[in-house]
Parts: sequence; C-alpha cells; structure tokens
Amino acid sequence: MSSQTTLTSTLPLNNTIPIPRLHLGVYQVSGRACSSAVTFALEAGYRAIDSAEWYGNEKEVGDSINAFLEKHGEVKREDVWFTTKLQNNVGYEDTRRKIKASVKRCGLGYVDLYLLHSPIGGTRKRLECWRAVGDAIEEGEVRAGGVSNFGVRHLQELLDSNPKVKPAVNQIEVHPFNTQTAITDLCKKNDIIVEAYAPLARAMRAKHPKVVELSKKYNCTWAQLLIKWSLQNGFVPLPKSVKQERVVSNADVDGFSIEEADLQALRALDEHLVTDWDPTDVD
Ligand SMILES: NC(=O)c1ccc[n+]([C@@H]2O[C@H](COP(=O)([O-])OP(=O)(O)OC[C@H]3O[C@@H](n4cnc5c(N)ncnc54)[C@H](OP(=O)(O)O)[C@@H]3O)[C@@H](O)[C@H]2O)c1
Repeated sequence: MSSQTTLTSTLPLNNTIPIPRLHLGVYQVSGRACSSAVTFALEAGYRAIDSAEWYGNEKEVGDSINAFLEKHGEVKREDVWFTTKLQNNVGYEDTRRKIKASVKRCGLGYVDLYLLHSPIGGTRKRLECWRAVGDAIEEGEVRAGGVSNFGVRHLQELLDSNPKVKPAVNQIEVHPFNTQTAITDLCKKNDIIVEAYAPLARAMRAKHPKVVELSKKYNCTWAQLLIKWSLQNGFVPLPKSVKQERVVSNADVDGFSIEEADLQALRALDEHLVTDWDPTDVD
C-alpha cells in the first residue's frame, strides 16, 4: 500500500516542480490568528500556505514557517510551499519591485508560487506583469508563476501572447456550487493546474441536503466531502480555517473515496455561487 497521503502527495506543475495537493488558505486572517493557524497546519503535516500581498500577512506566514523550520530541523525550507500574489496589475517595473518586496517581507528567501491576483487592469498591464513574473523566475526570486481569477479570455490572451513562461496555475473559486467548467477545461487542455479557492464554499452550503446525505454515506464531515471532491477532480484545494481542530480534520480525507456517480451528483449542484468576488470576465 502507498504511504502517500493527501498531505504528503504532490502534483507536477507544467515546469515539473511538484506542488503539494492541499494548502492552508489564510485570507482575512491576520496577526496572532494567522501565526497560530499556520503553526497548527504545519504541525498537522500541511506543507503549503496560500498568502497574498492583499491579505497583509506575508510576514506572519513567513515568520511562522521559519519558526517551525527552526523547531523541526528535519523539515527544510524546500519542504514548505509559500504562495503569494500581486495585488494589482501595476506594470512591469512595479511588479518586479513588488515581487522583491514580498520575498523580503516573508523572509523565506524566495517565493514558491507567485500569482497575478486578478486579471483587472487590461491586456497591456496583464501581459507586462506576467513578463515580470517570468523574469523573477529567471532571477530565482520565484520558483513558479501563475494567475488567479483568470477567465477563459484572459488565459487565452496570455497563451496566445506566446510568453517566455507559461502559467503553471490558475487559482479560481471552484466547489460543487460553482464548478467553472469552461475555465477548468481550458486549464486541463493547457496543462495548467487549477487551485480551488473557497473549496468549502465558505461554509454557505454545509447544510445542503445532498451534502448532508453524502457526508453520512461516506462517514465524513461536510467539509471533508467538499475537499475530497476537489482533490478527486484534480484540483489543489486551499481550505481556510483558524481553528486547530478544523485545520486537522479538513486534511483527514484519506480514509474514503467518492464514487464517480456521487462526484457527478455534486457537480450537478452548480448554481454559480460566488462567495467573494468574480473578476473572471473583466476586460
Ligand atoms: N485568489 C483569490 O481571489 C481568492 C479569493 C478567496 C479565497 N482565496 C484563497 O482561498 C482560501 C480559502 O477560501 P475562503 O477562505 O474564502 O473560504 P473556504 O476555505 O471555502 O471557507 C472558509 C470558511 O469555512 C470555515 N470552516 C473551515 N473549515 C471548517 C469546518 N471543518 N467546519 C466548519 N466550518 C469550517 C472557516 O471558519 P473558521 O476559520 O472559523 O474555521 C471559514 O469561515 C483563502 O483563505 C485564500 O487563501 C483566494
């Protein structure tokens, strides 16, 4: 039997770098709550954290990772994945500066995954900022680059521009109540991994009858059901919690597998539920 579990397994990005299968999200978490959530996650075996310039917690996340590494000498910097994102598409030079500032703020030496947080700003800015990410990869500031909230037209535009570096990831809202099939299909076709944000649909559909029925069937929590759905669809889910018990249980999803018919039944719940924002169709 394989000793791989959700928390130790990875997927290869299109640049061959392996990305952990499950990340802790830390949106709207700051200060001590952020530090403790990151520590709970690392102690539970998570090896990836999803931060952003926008969240204002790159320093807390980086400091908590460094404290963990100091405490556990056997875990190395390269064993822990740190993602951050460019808040606004500000143009080439500013993006280069902002990447350097994020690297400095997190104190981790480099960023594992750097994303354009959204497509907002128009074609010229998007392509300029993307070129800056490519150059930051060449300079060793960033290991892999990607985008977030990019819709079909933005991805197509970027791919058609024949960039030096292809995006490795598109981070979008995906869960059974918002399946984003057109975007996820295009990503699959182009070997771009989909990171699923709000994989728990922000707990807004925890009591949906289908979710309750299938949680009983698989003897799991509703949150575990949604996380497993995301994993079995090939996505990289980023569930957020600041509570230790939830951080631990959200990753405890190895003991069951959702049958194909039930994966589809969950997919059929799509209602394009937007839990936060949806800039996937901006100009
Ligand atoms: N790129 C983007 O534009 C974008 C946008 C949104 C999110 N994200 C990323 O994706 C991550 C996840 O998305 P999200 O934070 O919006 O939503 P989410 O992970 O779907 O849901 C988080 C909510 O669910 C609750 N929760 C977590 N586990 C639970 C459990 N086992 N039982 C009951 N409630 C539970 C959390 O509360 P407690 O904390 O109190 O447990 C929190 O209120 C973010 O943190 C961020 O890293 C990215």
